[in-house]
This record gives sequence, structure tokens and C-alpha cells, in this order.
Amino acid sequence: MATYDLIVIGAGPGGYVCAIRASQLGMKVAIVEKRSTFGGTCLNVGCIPSKALLHASELYDEADNQFAAMGIDVKPKLNLKQMLTFKDEAVKGNVDGVAFLLRKNKVDHFHGTGRIKAPGLVEVTFINGEKQDVDAKSIVIATGSAVAKLPGIEIDEEAIVSSTGALSLPTAPKRLLVIGAGVIGLELGSVWRRLGSEVTVVEYLDRVLPGTDAEVAKQLQRILTKQGMVFKLGSKVTGVKKNGAAQAVTIESAQGGDKQTLEADVVLVAIGRVPFTDGLGLSEAGVKLDNRGRAVVDAHYATSVSGIYAIGDVIDGPMLAHKAEDEGIAVAEILAGQAGHVNYDVIPNVIYTAPEVASVGKSEEELKAAGVAYKVGKFPFTANGRAKANQTTDGFVKILADAATDRVLGVHIIGADASEMIAEPSVLMEFGGSAEDLARTCHAHPTLTEAVKEAAMAVDKRAIHF
Ligand code: FAD
Ligand code: NAI
Repeated sequence: MATYDLIVIGAGPGGYVCAIRASQLGMKVAIVEKRSTFGGTCLNVGCIPSKALLHASELYDEADNQFAAMGIDVKPKLNLKQMLTFKDEAVKGNVDGVAFLLRKNKVDHFHGTGRIKAPGLVEVTFINGEKQDVDAKSIVIATGSAVAKLPGIEIDEEAIVSSTGALSLPTAPKRLLVIGAGVIGLELGSVWRRLGSEVTVVEYLDRVLPGTDAEVAKQLQRILTKQGMVFKLGSKVTGVKKNGAAQAVTIESAQGGDKQTLEADVVLVAIGRVPFTDGLGLSEAGVKLDNRGRAVVDAHYATSVSGIYAIGDVIDGPMLAHKAEDEGIAVAEILAGQAGHVNYDVIPNVIYTAPEVASVGKSEEELKAAGVAYKVGKFPFTANGRAKANQTTDGFVKILADAATDRVLGVHIIGADASEMIAEPSVLMEFGGSAEDLARTCHAHPTLTEAVKEAAMAVDKRAIHF
């Protein structure tokens, strides 16, 4: 008989949530993690530290630029060392919390690197080199992702950094050059711009945030440009060379030609992430990977090898913590004989810039490409009482509803607190709700969420305040 019902490899949001849910369902569970702390990319070097820095730097920026208008006369002074401590404490609070939850749920843990020797058998290599075999009925791979590298550009986490280095820069660089206008580029670019850096973002495509509704992305770019960020779209970086203490970054137009050299003190490489399966022994075990290195799974997260499952960043789909968590719950429930399921049509996506961008469901471009007839309801925050009171009027809510059935197909919000507001339309969409359902739901006044209700009313051209 196997020692465990389940071994999970990787204790990120996918892995630790899966382990806890499986234990709740009566399984004997172990988790293997090679980092010294639990929580994976998200808690250690991703979501949590980046949001701590976004929060602190936003308050600093507000104190500097907006408090005076509210009658608060202060001149903030940056203590970056303390801000980094604040961020580290946020990480510690969260990773310790996960350790507590794993203990509380009686999940055994092995701090070491896991390798699948055979179905049902994982070899753990501890930091001191010692090895131990652990056996289980099922294995869940939740090993996440790693930074995508640019050929010829060596990340040293000091002058040329990934997101990890950009979360711990000891001083705000005078000039920060960001490669990639995706989520990390815009979030961490915002942090350092607020703390005093001149930020230039070089993006291969002719737009920021590919995949996000184009109208929303354009508006965000306009606002970030007003805040001082410089964008070089349709451009590719062809090399980075040391030039004294600075970095000489050569860029050219995406089509080739039109060469230019930009000087920067720090370069942030943020061109995406790739699935992480190094040393896991997947090919030896016969686990099939796709052409992008992701573990191939069926609708029940089963890989090509019986008894081996995979979830989170290491499989197809958006690389988001909440997607990994929900897959962790789903696979645990499937292993317990229940009907675990994730609705991939309703996975919210948030960019924590100021203003924030939050969306769920389809973009206009996706609906057009799919030939779906849709109606649009839009409401600007300039017409929302609470936003006017707070003087946070940048942005709008856009609701896309099916032209025939009125069912909500997509919601896109750019504005303060968009990250919190997106939960309401997500619930609505999970229940297959219509724009009319949202329009007829009473919303408290004065709140920013009234803009969501008014956008729903605007689908039928009957918004009151615009
Ligand atoms: P991971 O969190 O990557 O965890 C995998 C774990 O497996 C790691 O701890 C790793 O050490 C371990 N591991 C790997 N191989 C082995 C092995 N062989 N043996 C033992 N252990 C192993 N997502 C959001 O939803 N919201 C955000 O705001 C957000 N912000 C982000 C900010 C940054 C800077 C970054 C980089 C990412 C951010 N993400 C965010 C993405 C999010 O972090 C990932 O989608 C999420 O962490 C994926 O979870 P996971 O469990 O699949 O993998
Ligand atoms: P990304 O995929 O969001 O953006 C990468 C950008 O780099 C794209 O715009 C792409 O066109 C561009 N690019 C690619 N190659 C390039 C090149 N050679 N030169 C110039 N531009 C190039 O990836 P990013 O920002 O690195 O983030 C990785 C992932 O982490 C995200 O996709 C997301 O899943 C997750 N994440 C989520 C966050 C959130 O939910 N708030 C925050 C941060 C990360």
C-alpha cells in the first residue's frame, strides 16, 4: 500500500491549495517544495511583493502629488530600505500563513527537489544532497513557471534584472529600461517611476498589454504616458552592452532597421514566463509536453501517464495565481471522486497599475473574431459621484452583452479599485446573468460600483448619469 494518497510537487498557489483541499477530502497528502518557504512564485517573488510595492509607492506618489489638493500639506521623503522591509514583511506574513495552513490540514512536507522516478514514486533531493523516495497513489505536478530569457541578454539581477531583481533594487535607478509592455513591465515600471526613475518601455508589438481589450489598453497607455512613462512600441531590443556603469541598449523597429541606442542604468526583462519542469524527469516518466514545454493534460488534469496530474502555470491557460488555485481544488475533488471543474470563460484578470485594469470574459476583438453579435454599454468614472468626490475620474466600465440574449460576455474596467469591482460581474457571468440583471440590481450610493450598474443600463441606452 502506498504511503500517501497524493504527493504534490511545488507549493505555489496551485500546489498548496490542492494539498489542503485533498486533505480536507480525507486523503493522506505530502507536498514537496524546493524553496525554503511555501507559496511559490506568487507569494515569494510575484503577486504579494509586487502588490506591497505597488501599494506603498502609490501612497508615496499620492502624498507627493495629490494630498495638497485635499488640504494635507506634507512633503514625503522616500525611505526605500524601509519600503523594501515592508514588502519583505508582507511576504513573510503570507508564506508563514501557508506553512500554518499546511500544518493545520496535516499535510506532510518535504523541503527538497522532487523528481518523478515512476508513476507513484517521487525522489526528493534535500539541500544537503541526501535523497529519499516517497510513494503515493497519485502525483500532482504544480511546478509553476520561470522567467523567459532573451537570447544573448544575461540576467544578473543587478544591472539586468528579471521581476525578481526588480522587487529588490537597493536604489531607484535614474533610468530604467523595461523590455516588454506586459503586466510585469507596466506594474513594476509604475513602481519605479513613482519612486523617481525615468522609465522607458520597449515593446515588440504596436500596443501595450496584448490580450487585453484594445480600447482599455490604449487608455491605460495614454494615462501612464501622462504619468511620465515613455513607450517605444513596435520595437525590439537586439542587445545590451555595458557602457561604464550604464547599459547601452540597442533597439530596432520590429520589422528590422531603424536602429537606436538607449542608455539605461537598469534593464528589466519582462517578456513573459515559461513553464518550469527542469529536473522533474518528465520525459523519462513519459509525460507528454507541448511545443511550449507545458505538460499536456485532459479536462481532468490527467497527463499522458496514468496517476500523474498537472495544474497551474505548468499547463495551458493564463499564468495567474487564482487560475492555479482553482485548478488545485478541481483536481483534488476529481481525485476524491467528485466533479471538480474550472470555468475558463470566467477567470478575471487584473493589472495593478494606477488606475487599475480589470477584465473578465471576452474582449471586443475576441467577439468580433468569433463573429458574435454584441451590444456595448459604457460608463465613464467622470460621471460617477464617488469617483468625482475622490477625484479618481480616470477610466470607464465597458460591458459587452450578447445582442440576441443580453447575456454578459465580457466586462472591462479601467479605474481606481477595478480589482475589487471585477468580482461582481464575475459572479454574474458564472450564473449566466444578463446586462438587465445587473442593471436592475440596487447598488449602494455613492460607490464606484454604480458605474458597473450604469454601464449595464447603457447596454440598453438608458444610463441615467451620462
Ligand atoms: P508557482 O507559484 O510558480 O509555484 C511553483 C513552485 O514549485 C515553486 O515554489 C517552485 O520552487 C516549486 N518547484 C518547482 N520545481 C520543483 C521541484 N522539482 N521540486 C520541488 N519544488 C519545485 N498572478 C496573479 O494572479 N496576480 C498577480 O498579481 C500576479 N503578480 C505576479 C507578479 C510577478 C512579478 C510574477 C512573476 C508573477 C505574478 N503572478 C500573478 C503570476 C503568479 O505568480 C503565478 O501564476 C502563480 O504563482 C502560479 O502558481 P503555480 O502554483 O502554478 O506555480
Ligand atoms: P506578458 O506576457 O504579460 O508580457 C510580455 C510582453 O513582452 C508582451 O507585451 C510581449 O509582446 C512583449 N515582448 C515579448 N518579447 C519581446 C521582445 N523581444 N522585445 C520587446 N517586447 C517583447 O509577460 P510578463 O509581463 O513578463 O508577465 C508574465 C506573466 O506573469 C503574465 O503573463 C501574467 O500571467 C503573470 N503576471 C500577472 C500579474 C497580474 O495578474 N497582475 C502581474 C505580473 C505577472
